[in-house]
Amino acid sequence: MSEIKKTAVLGAGVIGASWAALFLASGRSVTVFDPNENAETVVRSYVEQAWPALEELALTDHATPDALAFAATAAEAVRDAQFVQENVPERLPIKHATYAEIESALAAGAIVSSSTSGLTLEALQEGWRDPTPLILGHPFNPPHLIPLVELTVNEATGSDVLNRTEAFYEGIGKVTIRIKKGMPGHVANRLQAAVWREAVHMAVEGVASVEDIDKAMWAGPGLRWAAMGPTTLFHLGAGAGGLQAFCDHFKDTFNGWWDDLGDPRLDDDVIKKLVDGVNSQTQEQSTQEIAAQRDEMLTAIQKATKHLRT
Ligand SMILES: NC(=O)c1ccc[n+]([C@@H]2O[C@H](COP(=O)([O-])OP(=O)(O)OC[C@H]3O[C@@H](n4cnc5c(N)ncnc54)[C@H](O)[C@@H]3O)[C@@H](O)[C@H]2O)c1
Repeated sequence: MSEIKKTAVLGAGVIGASWAALFLASGRSVTVFDPNENAETVVRSYVEQAWPALEELALTDHATPDALAFAATAAEAVRDAQFVQENVPERLPIKHATYAEIESALAAGAIVSSSTSGLTLEALQEGWRDPTPLILGHPFNPPHLIPLVELTVNEATGSDVLNRTEAFYEGIGKVTIRIKKGMPGHVANRLQAAVWREAVHMAVEGVASVEDIDKAMWAGPGLRWAAMGPTTLFHLGAGAGGLQAFCDHFKDTFNGWWDDLGDPRLDDDVIKKLVDGVNSQTQEQSTQEIAAQRDEMLTAIQKATKHLRT
C-alpha cells in the first residue's frame, strides 16, 4: 500500500460517490464533503450498491465500507487527508472557491487531484496561492469500474506529486496515463468524440440504424479495443511485417476514409434522430436498468481478463 491511508472526496455526485466507493474498497478511510443535504444517504447507498462488484473484482482486500465519514465543510474534510479527490461541479468559480477554502487546511504533503473533464490545469491553479499540491486526475465514468485515469501536471506542480499520485492510483487498480500537452477533452474523450462523430454522421446519412451502428461497435472494434489499443491492433493486421507493412498496404485506404468522414453537428433534428433511435433500441428500460447492465458487463469483462493484465 502506498503511504496514503486517509482520503477526502469533495463533491459526491456521479463521480465523487464512485471514487469514494473505490477508495473505501482499497482500505483507505474516506471523508466526504458535499453541501447537498441528501449527500450522506446518496453516497452510503451508492457504496452499498457498488460493493458487490468491487468484491468480485477483488478490490476489497481488508476493506470495509464503514470507514466513511461526512464533514460539514470542505476544510474539515481535508484536514487529515493525504489524498483529496475534488469532484465539485465543472464550474471554475466553484472549483476556485473550494481550493481557497481548503488550501490552508491541507496537511503537509497532501495531494489534491481534480476530476475535471474540461478545465485546464492552468485555469484551476489560479485558485491557489501555492498550486504545488494540485494535479489533474481525470477518471472515466464510473471510476470504481473503469481503470483509466488521465494525469496532468505542469512546472508549477510539486516535483513528487505525479509519481506519488501514480503510485496511489495504480495501487488501487487504476491504469494511469500522462498527458504531455493539454488539449480540451484530454485523450480519451477526444477518442470518444472522434468515434461518436462518425457514428452520428452515419445515423444521419441513414447508413444503418442507431441500434446497428452501436452493435457494430460493441460486437466489433469495441471488443478488440478492450483488449488492446488501435495502433497495436493494426500492428497485428498485416502479418509478420507489423505496423509498417499494415501502413504500406492500407495507407491509401485510410487516407481516403479520413477524407470521407463526416462532420455533423448536434442540432435539434440530429438529436431527435439519435434520441428516437436509442429509445426504440432500449424500449421500456429505465436508464438505471441499462446502467446496471453496463456495470455488470464491465465487471464481468474485467474479472475475466484481470489475470491477463498482471
Ligand atoms: N460525469 C462524468 O461522466 C464525468 C467524468 C469524468 C470527470 N467528471 C468531472 O467530475 C466533476 C464532477 O462531475 P459530476 O458529473 O460528478 O457532477 P455532479 O453534478 O453529479 O456532482 C457534483 C457534486 O458536487 C456537489 N457540490 C456542489 N457544490 C459543491 C461545493 N461547493 N463543494 C463540494 N461539493 C459541491 C453537488 O451537490 C454534487 O453532488 C466535474 O469536474 C466533471 O467534469 C465527470
